[in-house]
Amino acid sequence: MEQKWWHGKTAYQIYPKSFCDSNGDGIGDLPGIISKLDYLKALGIDILWLSPIYPSPFVDQGYDISDYENIDPSFGTLEDFDRLMKEAKARGIDVIMDLVVNHCSSEHKWFKKACADLNSEEAGYFYFIKGKDGKVPNNLRSYFGGSVWEKIPGHENEDIYYSHYFAKEQPDLNWYNPKLREQVYKLVTFWLDKGVAGFRVDAILSIVKDLSFPDLPPDDSDGMTHAAKMNARNLSQIGKFLNELKDRTFTPHDSFTVGEVLTVTKESVTEFAGPQGYFSTLFDLSPRELIEAHPHYREYPNLTVDEFVGCVFNTQELYQKADAFVAPIIENHDEPRGVSYYLPEHLHNAQGAKLLGTFLMFLRGIPFIYQGQEIGMTNTDFKSIDEFNDLFAKDEYQTSIACGLSEQEAVALCARHGRDNARTPMLWSDEPNAGFTTGKPWLRVHQDYQTLNVKAQENDPLSPLNHYRKLIALRKEPSLHETVTYGRFERNTIASGVMSYWRINDKTGQKLLVIANTNKEPLTYQLPQAATELLTTGEVKLEGTTLTLGCGGAAILELK
Ligand code: GLC
Ligand code: CA
Repeated sequence: MEQKWWHGKTAYQIYPKSFCDSNGDGIGDLPGIISKLDYLKALGIDILWLSPIYPSPFVDQGYDISDYENIDPSFGTLEDFDRLMKEAKARGIDVIMDLVVNHCSSEHKWFKKACADLNSEEAGYFYFIKGKDGKVPNNLRSYFGGSVWEKIPGHENEDIYYSHYFAKEQPDLNWYNPKLREQVYKLVTFWLDKGVAGFRVDAILSIVKDLSFPDLPPDDSDGMTHAAKMNARNLSQIGKFLNELKDRTFTPHDSFTVGEVLTVTKESVTEFAGPQGYFSTLFDLSPRELIEAHPHYREYPNLTVDEFVGCVFNTQELYQKADAFVAPIIENHDEPRGVSYYLPEHLHNAQGAKLLGTFLMFLRGIPFIYQGQEIGMTNTDFKSIDEFNDLFAKDEYQTSIACGLSEQEAVALCARHGRDNARTPMLWSDEPNAGFTTGKPWLRVHQDYQTLNVKAQENDPLSPLNHYRKLIALRKEPSLHETVTYGRFERNTIASGVMSYWRINDKTGQKLLVIANTNKEPLTYQLPQAATELLTTGEVKLEGTTLTLGCGGAAILELK
C-alpha cells in the first residue's frame, strides 16, 4: 500500500456550536476551540474535523450554508480562523473542514438570484423542474420528511418546483451544470489556500440524479419513497464529477478527504476509497445504516453487540480486500452516543466507554473520535420535545404522534435515536452549564455533568479520558505503529457478546489481540501462545496463557 501522510493518524470531530463558548452567548465558537487546542494535543489528536462554521441560518445547524467563503459571526471571523489554523499547526494538528456541496442554503445569494430570475445563470445551479400532471415531479421523500419538491419562492402560482433532498431550506445544487462545478472548485480552493488539510465531504451520493425524475415504488403509506433510493440507481454517473473535483482541488494539495458515503459495496469501496479512489477514506456508517434501513425512528431496531460488531468487521474486511483505508467511528453529530446505543444497559457507563474505545482504536484505518466520546458521554435524558432543537427529531416526533404514539412514547423515541444526543454541550467541568458557557447554552446540558466532565477525569488515572489518552499514545508507539497502521485485520470469533480481533504484521510477525467482554458473565479465553499486556481496562487477569475478562473488561495484548 502506498504510504500517505495521514496514515496512522488519529482524528477528532468538533461540533463547533457545542464545544466551547468564549463570550457567553451560549454558542461555541472559534476562540473557544483555540482555548482547547492544548487539551486536544494532550489527548494525542493529529487531525481535527470541524463541522460547518460557515455563515448559515442554522435550519440544519450549519449544514445549510449561505456563504461558502466566510465564517458565521456566531463562531467568529476569518481572522479567528487564521489564528486557529496557526495555533493548530504550532501543535502539529491539521484541520479539515466540512464540505457541504450537495445543497446550499435557501439564503445563499445564488438561490436568491435564481428565484428572482428563472433565466439567470444562478437558476441553472439548481433543479428547477416542471410539475407532472399538476403535481410535484416525482414521489421522493426528503431525508427530513415530506416531499423533496417545493414551489420556488415568488413563483408559487407556477407549475415549477425546486429539489431539496434535505430540508426545504437546503436547495440541491445541480452538479450536471459545469458552471456550478466551477463554483465548487473555487470555494474548495479558497480553503485549501488557507492551509486546511482537507475535507469531510457531506451527503455526496445525493449529487447524482435521474434527470427524467421518475416516480419510484412507494416504501410507506404516504405513497413516497426515500430519496436515498434514487442515489443507488444513478451511482454510475458520480465518477465524472468526483474525479474532476479530486483532480482540480484535492490532488494538487495532497489533501486528506473523508466521504460521508452510505451503502458501500465491494465495487464502490474501490471506486470511492481504493488507491485511485475519489476520497482518501470513507466513514464506516454501517451500524447506523442497519438501524436506519427502516424509514422512521419508531421502527428502528436495537442492535445487539454481535450485530454491531458484525457490521464493523464486515467493513474491515471489505476495505482490507480493496487495499483501502476506512475511517472507523463509534459516533458523530448525527448519531446517539455509542455507549448508550451499542452496549447492553449494564455498560452504559465509564467502563462501557473504555471498552468501546479499546475496540475502536486498534481497528484498521483512521479512527475519528467525536467530542465527548473520550469522556464517555452517554445519551441525554430529554424529557419533552421542547428540549430538542433538531428538525429531524421534530419531524419524527410529529409522525410518531400521527401514528398513534403517546407524547411520552414519541419523546422516548427521539431521546433514544435523536441527533441532539451528540449535540448537547461538551462537558468541561462541574461549574454551571458544565463550563461550556457562562451564558444560556443553545441546547440543554447533559444530566450528569456534575460528575461526568473533563475536569473530574483529568486526574483520575482510571477515567475514560485517561484511557483514550493511553490508547492514542499506544497507537503511536514506534514498536506498534506499523502493525496498527498497516497490519492485517482478522476477526476472532469467540462467543456472543465478546468483541475480538487480531492485528497481524506479516512482515515482522507481530501479532496483537484486542478483546472485550460485554457479557455479565466472566469470559475465560485460552491464548494460542504466551502474551504481554499492552493495555487493559476493567477486570483482566492473565495467568500463563489463560486470559480472564470480567464484565466490561477489555485488553490489548501482544503475543510473544
Ligand atoms: C449529513 C450531515 C447531517 C446533515 C445532512 C444534510 O448527513 O452529517 O448533519 O443534516 O448531511 O446536510
Ligand atoms: Ca460564543
